[in-house]
Amino acid sequence: MNITVIGSGYVGLVSGACFAEMGNTVTCVDIDSIKIEKLNQGLIPIFEPGLEHMILKNVKNKNLFFTTNLGEAISDAEIVFIAVGTPMCDDGSADLQYVLAVAKSIGETIVKELVVVDKSTVPVGTADQVKATIQKELDARGSDLQFDVVSNPEFLKEGAAINDFMKPDRVVIGADSEIVFKKMKELYSPFFRSHDRFITMDIRSAEMTKYAANAMLATKISFMNEIANICEKVGADANQVRIGIGSDQRIGYSFIYPGAGYGGACFPKDVKALTKIAKEHGYRAQLITAVEKVNNAQKLVIAQKIIARFGEDLTGFTFGIWGLAFKPGTDDMREAPSIHTIKELVKRGAKIKVYDPKAVVQAKEHYLKGIENITYVTSKYDVLKDSVALILLTEWKEFRSPNFEEIKAQLKNSIIFDGRNQYIAYDLENKGFEYYRIGK
Ligand SMILES: NC(=O)c1ccc[n+]([C@@H]2O[C@H](COP(=O)([O-])OP(=O)(O)OC[C@H]3O[C@@H](n4cnc5c(N)ncnc54)[C@H](O)[C@@H]3O)[C@@H](O)[C@H]2O)c1
Repeated sequence: MNITVIGSGYVGLVSGACFAEMGNTVTCVDIDSIKIEKLNQGLIPIFEPGLEHMILKNVKNKNLFFTTNLGEAISDAEIVFIAVGTPMCDDGSADLQYVLAVAKSIGETIVKELVVVDKSTVPVGTADQVKATIQKELDARGSDLQFDVVSNPEFLKEGAAINDFMKPDRVVIGADSEIVFKKMKELYSPFFRSHDRFITMDIRSAEMTKYAANAMLATKISFMNEIANICEKVGADANQVRIGIGSDQRIGYSFIYPGAGYGGACFPKDVKALTKIAKEHGYRAQLITAVEKVNNAQKLVIAQKIIARFGEDLTGFTFGIWGLAFKPGTDDMREAPSIHTIKELVKRGAKIKVYDPKAVVQAKEHYLKGIENITYVTSKYDVLKDSVALILLTEWKEFRSPNFEEIKAQLKNSIIFDGRNQYIAYDLENKGFEYYRIGK
């Protein structure tokens, strides 16, 4: 099939590369001409395991292309995906300006029948807006071209995005025509050869499914963080409680690690947008509002532990940090707990030495840009010298089994703050460390 993916970010690039990998001809579009220029030179703008290899291979095979020219890209396409960002507006709602700008461009340039698929995470009712926007442009052109609008929310996880896309738990399609369901099934069938994971529903339910899924996962995280905070007060150990409840199949082990809060491109904005969507429809979403509140507080828990240990004024103290990305396997720092912890410490006069295997460029150029007193180093042990404590904020594999002797020898004090709860804890107290984690 000929496919166009509009928006070449985390979702667009992964989707485009994976569709191409299955033998489709894919053109990825973006308005960012520098990004497209780099992609055409074989430079991949984001880090996602396996993505670079897959893109370069399919470009070489001539079934993956990159362009800024949307009209040209859709002229031959049967299916067009919208995968642009839907960031948070100041009032918490999802900003639809990019999605609707793409819809307008499609309406202006469409030359044959097309299925327009919304892969961006968008509020319920957006497909209707996309449809109306395209139709308005067609009417202005006096065109009676037919098109369909479909909702196909994306559930990939950064850091494991290729695997998630190639072997999806499910593919949700919201549409209102059997022909379109059939076409989408034809496109996705190669991704589930062993058994069908294709779920069809109406468009609004598909749009809602994405928000419900993210709100559920965020709820599990905030729930466990709240339990961990109570554990600390009552003298229980959140990690033991985690194992105790996770063994119940109705609860399960995933997403119940206490930590420094959730971040990333999706949970924070989607949780917020869902409360806003509910409000706009006259419903006060109390639980989901609380999930966000708990998370905002949780992002400062590690800083509070540090303040409790070293005092309100951190002038003269240097802290070594492992991890900037909001989770391992990605260079994405959007809403990462590390931003909050570092800003709080620096505000109080502290100096920071930090190592992350992938996210340093993002930190320097965007998320921690201009903040003084941060030194970026290129090896994890280089954060230790002159530091009074080591703080773990992203659970990269290379931090799992470090050389504790070296840490002890280099750190000024043998103090570890573990924002990922027991990620590196192997009897650290008995190894002579002062060890602080969430939930104990
Ligand atoms: N990142 C994730 O893990 C993830 C997972 C599931 C769903 N989503 C959703 O997918 C959508 C995209 O997320 P992302 O993380 O890939 O975003 P991103 O910010 O990484 O990429 C968006 C891209 O769209 C481009 N763009 C903006 N306007 C455009 C236009 N008019 N024409 C062409 N390109 C345009 C931007 O330049 C950018 O490259 C969002 O709605 C997000 O909530 C993201």
